[in-house]
Amino acid sequence: MRKPFVAGNWKMNMDSQTGPALAQGVAEGTSGVAGDSVTVAVIPPFVYLPVVQAAVGSSKVAVGAQDIYFEEKGAFTGEISPAMLKDVGCTYVLCGHSERRHVLGETDEIVNKKLLASLAGELLPILCVGELLEERDAGQTEQVVERQIRAGLAGVDAAKMAQVTIAYEPVWAIGTGRTATREQAQEVHAFIRKLLGEIYDASVAAEIRIQYGGSVKPDNAKELMNEPDVDGCLVGGASLKVDDFVAIIKAAV
Ligand code: PGA
Repeated sequence: MRKPFVAGNWKMNMDSQTGPALAQGVAEGTSGVAGDSVTVAVIPPFVYLPVVQAAVGSSKVAVGAQDIYFEEKGAFTGEISPAMLKDVGCTYVLCGHSERRHVLGETDEIVNKKLLASLAGELLPILCVGELLEERDAGQTEQVVERQIRAGLAGVDAAKMAQVTIAYEPVWAIGTGRTATREQAQEVHAFIRKLLGEIYDASVAAEIRIQYGGSVKPDNAKELMNEPDVDGCLVGGASLKVDDFVAIIKAAV
């Protein structure tokens, strides 16, 4: 049985007061379920990682980073290494979020390097994939997702796949209030699982967790996560409010 995994991507939001308060609220609101029946992570901006880590304290809410750089150290102004993330208590790292791909220009090759660096640094990557609206309209959803998965996972062997999570996030559903229907989500999730069976084997495909992301809210989380191949959510906007995020986490249980 795959344990559901709900992660809150704060993006470029919150501050040194509101961030820890949110994290603490999530930890309190999910005690008894977080870590046991559902994996929970909050993913703040880099600069708030230490204060958020302190705020979740000894709870079972994990902390993740929104990005990573693939070099160990040196002259890479503005970048953050795997060891630095580990040093401040990070467990998870987003790799290839659609805003990094489409706003910041990250290629599949860069995403792959970041994912490999995360694994090498003993961080757990969440590989984000998803098609643009024009790609869906042109019937290219599976082609785009397959390219992103194959390229993103290049060089990752089956034994390492237990440390990887995939997040399917149709770009047209992110921050738009327009969610994929549960049928649309399930269709792509099942496709991804089948693809992982082809690239790796049946046990990798059966065990990997595939989150859905894109305008997940308390009122649609349950029906999405009830689909057989939807193993949790990557939540943006609704993860910024304690009550909404806790309700989504509880919908996973
Ligand atoms: P959203 O963002 O929930 O605000 O649509 C999801 C994401 O980008 O991970």
